[in-house]
Amino acid sequence: MTGKLSKFGERFSRVTGTAQLMGDLGRAIAEDSTALLLGGGNPGTVPEMVALFQQRLHEIGDSPDDIQRMMGNYAHPKGDIGFRKSLARLLSRKYGWPLTVDNIALTSGSQTGFFQLFNMLAGEFADGGRRRILLPMTPEYAGYKDIGLIDDLYVAHRPEIEERPGGFFKYRVNFDALRIDEDIAAVCVSRPTNPTGNIITDGELHQLDAMAKAAGVPFIIDSAYGVPFPRIIYSAANPLWNENVILCMSLSKLGLPGIRTGIVIAREEVIDALGNMTAVQSLTIPSTGAVFIQPWVESGEIEDIGRHVIQSFYRRKMEFACDVVRREFEGVPCRIHSPEGAFFLWLWFPGLPISSDELYHRLKARNVLAMSGHWFFPGYREPWRHVHECLRLSYAQEDRVVEEGMRIIADEVRGLYSGRVGASRTESVGAGGRIAV
Ligand SMILES: Cc1ncc(COP(=O)(O)O)c(C=O)c1O
Repeated sequence: MTGKLSKFGERFSRVTGTAQLMGDLGRAIAEDSTALLLGGGNPGTVPEMVALFQQRLHEIGDSPDDIQRMMGNYAHPKGDIGFRKSLARLLSRKYGWPLTVDNIALTSGSQTGFFQLFNMLAGEFADGGRRRILLPMTPEYAGYKDIGLIDDLYVAHRPEIEERPGGFFKYRVNFDALRIDEDIAAVCVSRPTNPTGNIITDGELHQLDAMAKAAGVPFIIDSAYGVPFPRIIYSAANPLWNENVILCMSLSKLGLPGIRTGIVIAREEVIDALGNMTAVQSLTIPSTGAVFIQPWVESGEIEDIGRHVIQSFYRRKMEFACDVVRREFEGVPCRIHSPEGAFFLWLWFPGLPISSDELYHRLKARNVLAMSGHWFFPGYREPWRHVHECLRLSYAQEDRVVEEGMRIIADEVRGLYSGRVGASRTESVGAGGRIAV
């Protein structure tokens, strides 16, 4: 790009990790059918969902009203009113939440919703002060990282690591170290967590909710994979909403990332502010997702789809992926984060002789796209070797791809450990740094 850019231009036109990864993923999906895609967050192809989508497309095609609503009208800046009413009714009926249409806004994908929310609540204030988003537990969703209008938008905490039998471990919120200081604007967790598949327990969730309430800041729950839908969860988790909670959902992991629909459920003033922002940025948001799934929301079927179709599809894939890891990584120091939800395995290689980023490049050269764990520590700035010892692997793709990809990764990692004898390593590594081998 030639010429001078504004501060905004500088910040948002640079090549960020997210831009690079989404570019890699988009190219590999469109152009390179041989790449083994264990890297991105693309949902799998769920045959029953494809059949439902086909059926719904036919229905829409036969309905001039639906066509008009989906494509021929500008919707309300908070999103299609009919859909928002149906969703408010469903959630009030099922969970007793006192919601109306005014508690719900749609966004062009939940990523856009986070951009609006985080920058609305945190950043630079009129009095010159700065307030930040508290991430009580890293690793956390990499997509948060680059969306701030200021550089250091996050304060992030290191979790406790609970060792579990069978080579598993689980991150836990370290409540002893957690404080919500004056400079915190909101608390945010993804549940299930991308990248780890962790599910913050109901108890932890309520404790965080109480802390946020006591500090007078909103509690943002990113439920892109979670409850009430799409419900890609394999352990107990109840949804939570109250006037202090901002619950963010998405249609992407139902299998509809291409129609960019995010859902924000919050108190009215938050929803009003989001609608006003959308009006400035894009007049309104597309109604595609809203019209597409409204009948399932109106009838409540959307929750059954999550429970019976989506969840069982990914549970089987998760079990398959764990079996493959156990077999292929036999004898390699590899731990798996307890896979409680979403569709990723988070592997930890204690003492990995090179950084996970270097491992990512080696794997890419062997046609396997994984994600280096170091991307998933937005706002975490302390030296911690663990940051560079993990990989996130998606098991959403075909079994053949998962199996072959894992086999190559295991081969690469085994080679690293066996060549390690006598190597000297630096134990203290900054979050953005490299491991000296
Ligand atoms: C935890 C989490 N939140 C939010 C998003 C954004 O999803 P979308 O913008 O497709 O709704 C993703 C995407 O992968 C995610 O993993």
